[in-house]
Amino acid sequence: MIRIVFIGFGNVNYHLCSTLYNMSNVSVNQIYNRNKVEIKSVLKSIPVTSQLSKIEEADIYIIGIPDDVVGSFSETLPFKNRLVVHTSGGVAMEVLSKQNRSGVFYPLQTFSKERVVDFKEIPICVEAENASDLKLLKTLGETISEKVVEINSEERAKLHLAAVFVNNFVNHLYRVGHEITSENNLQFDLLQPLIAETARKIETLTPSEAQTGPAKRNDLKTIEKHLHLLKDSSHKELYQQLTQAIQKTYGKKL
Ligand SMILES: NC(=O)c1ccc[n+]([C@@H]2O[C@H](COP(=O)([O-])OP(=O)(O)OC[C@H]3O[C@@H](n4cnc5c(N)ncnc54)[C@H](OP(=O)(O)O)[C@@H]3O)[C@@H](O)[C@H]2O)c1
Repeated sequence: MIRIVFIGFGNVNYHLCSTLYNMSNVSVNQIYNRNKVEIKSVLKSIPVTSQLSKIEEADIYIIGIPDDVVGSFSETLPFKNRLVVHTSGGVAMEVLSKQNRSGVFYPLQTFSKERVVDFKEIPICVEAENASDLKLLKTLGETISEKVVEINSEERAKLHLAAVFVNNFVNHLYRVGHEITSENNLQFDLLQPLIAETARKIETLTPSEAQTGPAKRNDLKTIEKHLHLLKDSSHKELYQQLTQAIQKTYGKKL
């Protein structure tokens, strides 16, 4: 039985906890959160504490708190020589306090509490200071996912950088599209099949092969029209930058 204590109960730890709670080889022993946290459904039976001194013994402590505070927070844990991992793509394993054994358990997906996820399809990137901890993290990962990979901090930082482009930046562009449709009383839903096909296409084509649109075709009149339609100056700037980036990639100039 792998005993887990979750530290922080935001988007990632909520989902990890909900999934691991149902696994027969895992026991979720406790949740620590600095503030009072509302726990729903079956997870209610898991003991919760907001006092560091009351954190129980476990085989793995999974820290799921903002990147910038992972290191300093890990220094405040009142125990030694236990396996403490974080769940971040962008934070090196070395930031974790040396008073415990360090590791990383990074699920490469976007998580929001209100969205159900299927961990089977989510790659879990693991890293640990020593071989036996790495083995334990792999076992834990394989309990919930069909893709567990060992990736070091340097590689993970680059993977995370790529993830920011394909997820966070793309999602921001959805938001811009959403603003444009709502301001003009159009249904955002009309764009859903296009969004889905854009993602599906790159399962069989490279992103370069999949690129279409006015910038790739060098349709200058359409580009001018779009720039004219855009009222928001930051949207206009974004449109110009992305158009120029596509044109540069495909060898045409604005
Ligand atoms: N969300 C994603 O899509 C995603 C995907 C992969 C990896 N990650 C990584 O997972 C980690 C957690 O991300 P998240 O999105 O789950 O975060 P989140 O939803 O914003 O959750 C933040 C949690 O951290 C706690 N917290 C905030 N500041 C703290 C501090 N100074 N000291 C102690 N606890 C603090 C919060 O406690 P209170 O309730 O008390 O405020 C809350 O439990 C990050 O390292 C992130 O990079 C995120």
